[in-house]
Amino acid sequence: MKIAVVGTGYVGLVSGTCLAETGNNVTCIDIDVNKVNKLNNGEITIYEPGLEKIFLRNIKEGRLHFTTNLKEGIEDAQIIFLALPTPPGENGHADLKYVLGVANDLGTLLKKDDFKVIVDKSTVPVGTAEKVRATIIAASNNTLQSGDEGCFEVVSNPEFLREGVAVEDFMKPDRVVIGANTEKAKKLMGDLYAPFVRQGNPIIFMDEKSAELTKYAANSFLATKISFMNEIAQLCERMGANVDMVRLGIGSDDRIGKRFLFSGIGYGGSCFPKDVQALIKSSDECNYDFKILKAVEEVNENQKLHLMPKIKSYFNDNLKGKHFALWGLAFKPNTDDIREAPSLYMIDALLEAGATVSAYDPEAMKNIKQTIGDKINYCDTQYDALENADALIIVTEWNEFRTPNFETITSSLKNKAIFDGRNLYDIDDMNAKGFHYVSIGR
Ligand SMILES: NC(=O)c1ccc[n+]([C@@H]2O[C@H](COP(=O)([O-])OP(=O)(O)OC[C@H]3O[C@@H](n4cnc5c(N)ncnc54)[C@H](O)[C@@H]3O)[C@@H](O)[C@H]2O)c1
Repeated sequence: MKIAVVGTGYVGLVSGTCLAETGNNVTCIDIDVNKVNKLNNGEITIYEPGLEKIFLRNIKEGRLHFTTNLKEGIEDAQIIFLALPTPPGENGHADLKYVLGVANDLGTLLKKDDFKVIVDKSTVPVGTAEKVRATIIAASNNTLQSGDEGCFEVVSNPEFLREGVAVEDFMKPDRVVIGANTEKAKKLMGDLYAPFVRQGNPIIFMDEKSAELTKYAANSFLATKISFMNEIAQLCERMGANVDMVRLGIGSDDRIGKRFLFSGIGYGGSCFPKDVQALIKSSDECNYDFKILKAVEEVNENQKLHLMPKIKSYFNDNLKGKHFALWGLAFKPNTDDIREAPSLYMIDALLEAGATVSAYDPEAMKNIKQTIGDKINYCDTQYDALENADALIIVTEWNEFRTPNFETITSSLKNKAIFDGRNLYDIDDMNAKGFHYVSIGR
């Protein structure tokens, strides 16, 4: 099939590349000229394990193209994906200006005799497919019609990929959710996704509103699991229990499940914070007070700075002139995404208290530098960051931080103090090594 993907960020680039990998001819469109130039030169613009190899292969085989020209990009496409940003707008609502802006452009470009399916892949509030449909029709001066008899249809197809394992998630999804009202659109979407569900994972067809809500419900539920465990960790600290043990104890119950039960210094990223916020706003709008979700958000806000009082107390409530090594900047391992990363909150709090920071992250340093510039010092290796530091703070659980050289840590740090926001090390082991070791809920 011929496919267009509008928006070539984390979701658009992964989706476009994976759709090309199954034999489709894909054109990815983006307004960022610099990004499109890089992609056209075979330069990948995000860090995502496994992506570069299939990206290069599909360019070489002529199935993957990039352009800034929407008209040219959608010309022959049967399906047009919208993988556009939906950041928090004023008051925390999902800002639909990118999605509806492109819908407006599509209204001026679509032709009456050329049926296309427009797919909302962005995470969007309930009712957005309807707004996209109305925007396209209005921009065409009511010359275009949607539905089986019309020349376009809008479908909701939320994306569930996780950064860090995005290629695997897209190629072998647990499920594909498609909210579609018409048979023609259902057939096209079913055919497109058939190669991705050959092992029997379901394509779940539903109405478009349920599909839109499914994505927010999924992210909100996962965020709830994390905040719940962070509250259990608070109890553990007060009661002398160990959250790792409690996690193993409850996670082995398959009604609860093992995943998303790790306590730490809070969730971040481009999805959970904004999606939780957006669902709270949507609930408020239909006069429903979503109490659990409001608590989830509040717990997470507090959790991001949970280590700060412990750090301050170790240094007698005075961090002025203290220097910290910080390991991990990305919001989670295996990505260079730093949107809403706990590291940003930690850095702000440390600088505000008069401290300085030397940081290392395997992939995210370029993005952090673009955001906060030279407010901190960037190091080439995790061990360089330790030099002259008063203590080490761990913010992201990259694999290379799991079994470090503790002798080098000891000889580099001024104090044998590690504040671990991701519970990477065994407490007894750290005590035996003579570290002042502070983790979460243990
Ligand atoms: N990142 C994730 O893990 C993830 C997972 C599932 C769903 N989502 C959702 O997918 C959507 C996209 O997220 P993302 O992380 O890929 O965002 P992103 O910011 O990485 O990418 C968006 C891209 O759209 C481009 N763009 C903006 N306006 C445009 C326009 N008018 N025409 C063409 N391109 C334009 C931007 O330049 C950017 O490259 C969001 O709604 C997000 O919530 C994200």
